[in-house]
Amino acid sequence: MELKQAILERRSIRGFKNDPVSKETIEDILKVATRAVSANNTQPWEFAVITGDLLKKIGADNVARLNAGEEMDNGEEPFSGIFRTRQVGIGKALLGAMDIAREDKEKRAWWGQRGFRFFDAPCAILIYVDDCLNYSDARLDVGCVIQNICMYAMEHGLGTCVENQAVMYEKGLRQYLDVPENKKYVTGIAIGYPDPDFPANSVISTRDPIEENTRWYGFDE
Ligand SMILES: Cc1cc2nc3c(=O)[nH]c(=O)nc-3n(C[C@H](O)[C@H](O)[C@H](O)COP(=O)(O)O)c2cc1C
Repeated sequence: MELKQAILERRSIRGFKNDPVSKETIEDILKVATRAVSANNTQPWEFAVITGDLLKKIGADNVARLNAGEEMDNGEEPFSGIFRTRQVGIGKALLGAMDIAREDKEKRAWWGQRGFRFFDAPCAILIYVDDCLNYSDARLDVGCVIQNICMYAMEHGLGTCVENQAVMYEKGLRQYLDVPENKKYVTGIAIGYPDPDFPANSVISTRDPIEENTRWYGFDE
C-alpha cells in the first residue's frame, strides 16, 4: 500500500471480527514499528500483548471498576475551548453512526464500556515505560511507535484503535499482568480484523486545515 494512501485511509476501528491475530503477526508488527524515532534512541516503549480469555477477563474487570465508579489511576483531564469542541465532534459522529441518541443513557453507557473492554478486539497491546524516565518525553516516543503500529497493522489487513481507556485502571491491570511496579502504563491499542458492518468503523474524523495551525517563515523572501 502506498504510504500517502495508507496515512489518509487509516482510521480508528472500534468493531472487530472474532478471528484471532497470531503471535507471529504481532511480532512482525512490533519488530517493524519499533524502528520509530525516539529521543536519544532511548526506545522507552515496552509492550504487554494480550489475547484470549485473559483479555476478556481484564476487559470485564475494567468495566466492573467503571460501573462501580472507581477512581481512575490514569484518567484524562477535561478539555476546554476548541479541544473540547473537537472532542464533542468525534463523540457525536460516533454516537450518530451507532444510532445512539444523546438522551439514551443506557446505550451511551454501553458504548462507553466498549473501550474499557478493548472494543471486544481479539488482541490488545498495552504500552508502558520505565518510571525512571521523564514521562512526557517518553510519551512522545511512544506516540511515534503507536503511529507505526497502527500504520503497519494495515498492511496485515488489521484495524486498530489507540485507547487510553485500556489503561485507565492500572490497579486492575496489575492483578492480571506481572508488569513490574516501576513501569508506568501510557496507553493501549485494540487490534484485530475490522468488522466492515460495524457502523462506527465508517466514521471518518475531521481535520482542521493546516492554514489554521501552521505559521510559515522565510518562504516569501
Ligand atoms: C493517545 C490516544 C488515546 C486515545 N484514546 C481513545 C480512547 O480511550 N477511546 C477511543 O474510543 N478512542 C481513543 N483514541 C482514538 C481517537 O479518538 C482518534 O484517533 C481520533 O478521534 C481521530 O480519529 P481517527 O483515529 O479515526 O482518525 C485515542 C487516540 C490517541 C492518539
